[in-house]
Amino acid sequence: MTTLSSPQKINGKFKGKDILDANQFSKRDIKIIFDKTDKMKKAVLKKGGLKLLEHKVLAPLFFEPSSRTFSSFSAAMQRLGGSVIPLPNMANTSVAKGESLEDTIKVFASYSDILVIRHPEQGKVLHAADITSVPVINAGDGIGEHPTQALYDLYTINESLKKVSGLNVVFFGELGRYRPVNSLAKLLALYKNKITFVSPPQGKVQTAIIDYLKARDIEFSETETIDKVIGNCDVLYVTRVKKEFMSEALYKKIQGKYVVNKKLLQKMKKKSLIMHALPRIDEIATEVDDDPRSIYLKSQVINGMYVRMALLALVLGKI
Ligand code: CP
Repeated sequence: MTTLSSPQKINGKFKGKDILDANQFSKRDIKIIFDKTDKMKKAVLKKGGLKLLEHKVLAPLFFEPSSRTFSSFSAAMQRLGGSVIPLPNMANTSVAKGESLEDTIKVFASYSDILVIRHPEQGKVLHAADITSVPVINAGDGIGEHPTQALYDLYTINESLKKVSGLNVVFFGELGRYRPVNSLAKLLALYKNKITFVSPPQGKVQTAIIDYLKARDIEFSETETIDKVIGNCDVLYVTRVKKEFMSEALYKKIQGKYVVNKKLLQKMKKKSLIMHALPRIDEIATEVDDDPRSIYLKSQVINGMYVRMALLALVLGKI
């Protein structure tokens, strides 16, 4: 059995560190990321980017499909003057011939300055980080973590509501297999927020997350219906029902029950947010997209690139 090292706390020092789990960050670390992200955003809007990572190379190792994470990391690297090994997925690499994860990591680490890895199995990205000294960023590992997603979700909440504490945050949908929920719940736990998990009984949030919140004395509740909590919600974080992980029968049972539509919007506060890590399938009706509270296809998406620019420059020691 492989023994995994615990991810190192950041403690204000990002250079050379792996970014694997949301619990690596303190409030101070998050403030640093937010400040650097503001600078990245300004630079992109003013002149398209900054020449901070010239001659640096990023290897994106995606063992699972991705649109946003792959593209925003690639765009972030390029907007900082660095380059990206052109590998949209691992299907065209020697992984298809049976090359092991260990060998694959060692090979790509020898060509690059930073690895961004997504893997369908929880723990595999941590394992990859253990076998190379090149910094590894977790771009999503199975039902485990998606820390950079949570960082830009939190940045977007702060940008929109001007605070990250004292909020009622509702996670809505199938939660147990949705890694952004795990990571964002951990970041929200750094501040005084109240969390409500609304899910079908088959999609409850993981016990590990409940234990994490309990250990930190964070106020939370679990329920199957949204009616009683929607009126007091500041952030409604909607999740995709992951069809690929369940039987047809279970999918049919859940499908359509955890949906955001105009009727639900009428019950929400005027000053609140609807977020989704995307891809969205049918859990948010398209009639909701133009509502000013809907930010999932707007600031939430573009902030992913700005936050990832800040992280790449921090980890590579250039800011
Ligand atoms: N939010 C997110 O991780 O999207 P992708 O799966 O498209 O990267």
